[in-house]
Amino acid sequence: MTTRMIIDTDPGIDDAMAIHYAAADPAIEILGLTTVFGNVFVEQATRNALRLLEMAGIDAPVAEGAAKPLAMPLSPPSHRVHGDEGFGDIPAAEPRGKAVAQSAAEFLVQTCADNPGEVVICAIGPLTNLALALRLDPSIAQTVKKVVIMGGAVETAGNITPHAEANIYHDPHAAAEVFAAGWPVVLVGLDVTHEITCPASDFDLVRENAPRIGGFIKDISEFYLRFYESVGKFGGCSLHDPAAVIAAAHPQYFTTKNVQLTVVASGEAQGQTVASPAADSPAVEVCLGVEAAAVKALFINQFKLLD
Ligand code: BDR
Ligand code: CA
Repeated sequence: MTTRMIIDTDPGIDDAMAIHYAAADPAIEILGLTTVFGNVFVEQATRNALRLLEMAGIDAPVAEGAAKPLAMPLSPPSHRVHGDEGFGDIPAAEPRGKAVAQSAAEFLVQTCADNPGEVVICAIGPLTNLALALRLDPSIAQTVKKVVIMGGAVETAGNITPHAEANIYHDPHAAAEVFAAGWPVVLVGLDVTHEITCPASDFDLVRENAPRIGGFIKDISEFYLRFYESVGKFGGCSLHDPAAVIAAAHPQYFTTKNVQLTVVASGEAQGQTVASPAADSPAVEVCLGVEAAAVKALFINQFKLLD
């Protein structure tokens, strides 16, 4: 069965990998992209999202979203991880198309209302747009099929700080609203994404499988791998955002546990996702196990279908 998907994204190197993976996977239909601040400023995220769809030949709308978190000041973009323009060493390039007039929150609400029970929202950036969509029209919690989130670290350490994963850290208030909304949430966090490690040779295979788009993925992976090496991780980079897209369409590779979560809003542990069994909140489905080799093989091999 095809997974009909809106990807909420801050592209971003691993976001680009996730979006191009989704474009390649016949089990996924991309209904649109919504953009958010995070790895880059939101205007850069929108430009990059448009460009990624045009490269892949996908004719789907891009709706621009939040430029800053709900309640906190904007943190600086993650240039060290993703490069000044979001794609490592690759210079910025203008897309041909433009974002639609609707905001990301409006696009999320309307697309779910128009296709009740069918749309999977795969969020691979800070969760601000999802919280704004819930505020705009809480009935999205009933019209959406499922919300799959790359974010959090429940039984493992953080990445942006020892406590927190970057997407949750960047807008913990939004994450708290999203976890409390009572819609079906699957959390694909560092508990599993840190188990999926890709060395440079994996991206050589992606390039072999799809010389044009895979070649782009190979080029942007070089900056990302250098960042990982700079923090002492020489075995390769983690496949964060692609793992969420893959979990949305191929959940059989993941094992999950229902967990009630609270999010630390500020202080040293800002953005920490804490299992809180006594909390008065709905449980979310947290991925705690992954067949990493199968996920990697899927990621590498689906690119054959793209070029
Ligand atoms: C997440 O943070 C961003 O840097 C990545 O794009 C990914 O969405 C990983 O913690
Ligand atoms: Ca991302």
